[in-house]
Amino acid sequence: MDNLYKMTYHIEPNRGLINDPNGFIQYKDTYYFFHQWNRFGLDHSYKEWGLFTSKDMLHWQSQGSAILPDREEDRNGVHSGSSIEYNGKLYLFYTGSNKNNGVRKSRQCIAISENGKTFIKQKEVIDTPNGFTEHHRDPKVWRGKNNWWMLVGAQKSDLTGAVALYSSNDLLQWKYERILYDKDLDQVCECPDLFQLNNEVDILICCPQKRIFIPSENKEEVSSYACYISGVFNENAMSFTPNQHRKRFDYGFDFYSPQTFLDNKGRRIMAGWMSRMEEEQEQCCPTRKFGYIHCLTLPRVLTWENNMLYQRPIEEIFQLRHNAQIYTSSQGKFEAETGHFELHLIRNKTNYPFTLYLCNRTIGITYSPETQILEVKRKNWVDGKMQTRQLALSELSELQIFSDNSSAEIFVNDGVAVFSMRYFTDNQNIEIEYVGLQQGEKLEYFTL
Ligand code: FRU
Repeated sequence: MDNLYKMTYHIEPNRGLINDPNGFIQYKDTYYFFHQWNRFGLDHSYKEWGLFTSKDMLHWQSQGSAILPDREEDRNGVHSGSSIEYNGKLYLFYTGSNKNNGVRKSRQCIAISENGKTFIKQKEVIDTPNGFTEHHRDPKVWRGKNNWWMLVGAQKSDLTGAVALYSSNDLLQWKYERILYDKDLDQVCECPDLFQLNNEVDILICCPQKRIFIPSENKEEVSSYACYISGVFNENAMSFTPNQHRKRFDYGFDFYSPQTFLDNKGRRIMAGWMSRMEEEQEQCCPTRKFGYIHCLTLPRVLTWENNMLYQRPIEEIFQLRHNAQIYTSSQGKFEAETGHFELHLIRNKTNYPFTLYLCNRTIGITYSPETQILEVKRKNWVDGKMQTRQLALSELSELQIFSDNSSAEIFVNDGVAVFSMRYFTDNQNIEIEYVGLQQGEKLEYFTL
């Protein structure tokens, strides 16, 4: 059976379930992309760290398992975390999960590698401090001015979410300092991150999560999303002061747990999990029949310009471009050569309506200058109905879309907003339709 959904330039597992990116780093000239992995099944019952490596962030080699749930602290899961290079060694920080008779215990754990191949677990672990429940996970470590810092996603004893701050001088002994942030973080905060952009602003990433009871179906659903808050992290006061409202990291249907690192060109690179699907979607996801599920996003470069966060695909991706075609007529319809392609819409009359349908109308993008709304629709593979996401946008100047057989990442206005999503079409002909190009404007197509 042909797999029409197999991706060509995204990370997905050859078997099992993949979720969060973990410990994303450039170590000794190689990009290391660890990730949450259930290599035995298509559910979340087992978690270890798997590893992909790459020299160029385009071609990834699976290195199999990196850290396994093989000791008491982590026997019920090697959960998410981060990595840091220090004195030539790679330090990995992860959450060890242990459930005894259904009672959850979380510990932040450390593994060290000198060669990027063997990861030696250390005896030092961090127990959850008073004032928190055992929903204490996803350590993110970075170097501060005088010490190392660690953020941990947390739930306070009053069952609301928080981000906990720890410090260390040697990366092994850690001291709990205080709650760095806890405003409106629902019931748990997962996968925090904190970094500076442009020597100007500190960005705090949070993934608030809550459980919602749906009476009509008599079941609970998990609702969670990734957001960021710009502000100032004061190292001496150990405080984070927001200077803008929190914003969604991504406006699409499938995006969660972003994680960043600084590469040796000084780029702040971020990748996320492109598949935080609703349960029913996960159960019906068409890749299951090929023995795997989910994928990660394209790595993106984050910058801060004009008081806004920009996300742009890593420039390496343009090396894949070939078979360029340019469309300039006011409307048109054409077949993409394959499902892995890029579309680039460049407009100069930014206040006119525009519509684009991708992949046999599995995805529709419409900009309306009257309502000043950009609307993205995606066909839900569970029931075949269109789902909608909207973004308030005063003008549409540019769309850059990266499709990879079963995923689309839509960058709006040079990266001011992004919509990430999975899509599934069984049609081998990938039809693209557009309406609304004005004089002098163009839609470029590239096979990737
Ligand atoms: C986020 C998350 C993390 C946890 C991991 C387990 O998707 O729930 O908080 O460490 O996934 O796989």
